[in-house]
Amino acid sequence: MPPSHPPLQRSAVVLAAGQGTRFKSRRSKVLHELCGKPILLHILDKLRRLEMRRVVVVVGHDADAVRARSGDYGVEFALQEEQRGTGHALQTAAPLLPDEGSVLVLSGDVPLITLETLGKLLEAVEAEGADESLLTALLADPSGYGRILRDGAGEPVAIREEKDATDSQRQIKEINAGFYCFKASALKPALSKLESANAAGEYYLTDLLDILRSQGKRIITISTSDPSEAWGINDRRQLAQTERLLRERINRFWMEEGVTMLDPSRVLIDAEVELACDVTLYPGVILQGRTRIGPGTEVRANCHLRDARVGQDCLLDQGSIIRDSEVGNETRIGPFAHLRSQAQVGNRVRIGNFVEVKKSVLEEGAKAAHLTYLGDARLGRDVNIGAGTITCNYDGKRKNRTVIEDGAFIGSNSQLVAPVTIGRGAYVAAGSTITEDVPAGALAVARSRQVVKPDWSPDED
Ligand code: UD1
Ligand code: CA
Repeated sequence: MPPSHPPLQRSAVVLAAGQGTRFKSRRSKVLHELCGKPILLHILDKLRRLEMRRVVVVVGHDADAVRARSGDYGVEFALQEEQRGTGHALQTAAPLLPDEGSVLVLSGDVPLITLETLGKLLEAVEAEGADESLLTALLADPSGYGRILRDGAGEPVAIREEKDATDSQRQIKEINAGFYCFKASALKPALSKLESANAAGEYYLTDLLDILRSQGKRIITISTSDPSEAWGINDRRQLAQTERLLRERINRFWMEEGVTMLDPSRVLIDAEVELACDVTLYPGVILQGRTRIGPGTEVRANCHLRDARVGQDCLLDQGSIIRDSEVGNETRIGPFAHLRSQAQVGNRVRIGNFVEVKKSVLEEGAKAAHLTYLGDARLGRDVNIGAGTITCNYDGKRKNRTVIEDGAFIGSNSQLVAPVTIGRGAYVAAGSTITEDVPAGALAVARSRQVVKPDWSPDED
C-alpha cells in the first residue's frame, strides 16, 4: 500500500450473543470447540490479521464466559441483554463504532470463512464504493439460511429468512452467508430504520439490504465458490460436519508439510498442534491442545497426546497417553504408558508398558521399562528402575518427593516411601521397602531374609 494512502478506518463486529437454541447447550454455542478451539476464536484469529482499528464482540447469552475466553484478543464487548435479533445485536454495537470507514460484520457461528473472502467484502466497500457488500453462496441444501432475492436484472433486492419465505422462495439455492461489510456512514442511519414485523418478531440485520437499496445505495454481493465458507453451526450435527471438514484440511496441511499418516481418516489433530517433518502417525492417534512433535518421531496406534511437547526421533508406542508433559529426543515410551501431568522426560529415556509418571523428572538415559509408578520423583542420569517399583509419594495428607541420583539401580518390586533419597550409584535390592535414605554407592536390602526349611513337603507316594 503506498504511504500516501489514508490510514484504514476498519472496524469489525462479531455477533455472538445468541442463545443457540438449536444447539441445546448450557453454554454459549460459540464456545463449543471446533478442532479443539472455540468456534468464536477461529473467527477472532482471522480478524487479528486484518488490521482492524477495533473489534466489537456482541455478547449476551453466557456473556461472562464468552468475555473470559476472548480476553486475550484485545476486543471490546457490547452487551445485548435481550436477544432480539441480529439487527438488534448490531444496533447494540453501533455506539462503539466510528462514524467513518468500513464496518465488517461477522456471524460468530460461521467459522470456516477465509481471510481472502473477508478481504473481498472489505474491498467492495473501501475500493469499489459499495455501501454494503455481502457474501452469498450456492448450497445444495439451503434449508435454514436466508435466501437472496434478485430482480430481473440480477440485482439483489432482499434477503428472505426461511421462516418468512414462500414455497417458491424456499427453492432458491443462493443463500446469505452472514458476512457483510458496510460504509459506516450508511450503516448508522439505516440501523435505526429496522423493524421487527416478521415471523420471528426480531430485528433482522438482513433487512438493511432492503433499506439501503430503497435509499439508492450501492450493494455488491460477493459469492464464494466454496460452500463450506458459509456453513453455519446451529446444531450439533452441523458442528460435527464442520469439524470433519476442518480435520480433513488440517490433516492435508500436515501431510503437505511432510507428516506421514497411515490412515488420515483416523487421525485427529487439533487446530493449534504443530508437527515437524517425518513424523509418522498411526491410526487412532489423537493430538490435542498445544501439542508439538519434533522431526522423525513415530506415534503408534491409539496414542492420545494433549499439551505434550515431544522431541525428535522418539517412539511413542501403542496406546500411550501424554498430558501436559515434555519428552526429549530419541526417547521410547509405551506401549500403554501414561505421562499424566508435568512429566519432564529427557533424551534417550525408556518408559515401558504400564508405567505411570506424574510431576517427575527423568534425566537422560533413565529407564523404567515395566509396571511402575513414578510420582513427585527426580531420576538422575542412567537410573534404572526395576519392574513393579512404586514411589509412595502420598502419606494421606501431603505429596512427598523421591530423589534417585545418577546411576542408581532400583531392584524389581521395590517401594520407595517418600520423602527419600537414593544416592548416586546406590543399589536397592529387589522387593525392598525403602523408608530411609540410601547413601551413594551403598546397597540397601529392606526385606526379611529368605528362610529355607528342608524336607518340608510331605512325602510323595
Ligand atoms: C442468520 C441470517 C441468515 C443467514 C445465516 C447465516 C438473520 C436474520 N439471518 O440466520 O440470513 O443465512 O445467519 O448463517 O440475520 N445473534 C446475536 N443476537 C441476537 C441474535 C443472533 O448476537 O439477538 C448472533 C448469534 O449468536 C449468531 C449470529 O448472530 O452468532 C447469527 O444468529 P443466528 O440466530 O444463528 O441466525 P441464523 O438463523 O443462522
Ligand atoms: Ca446461525
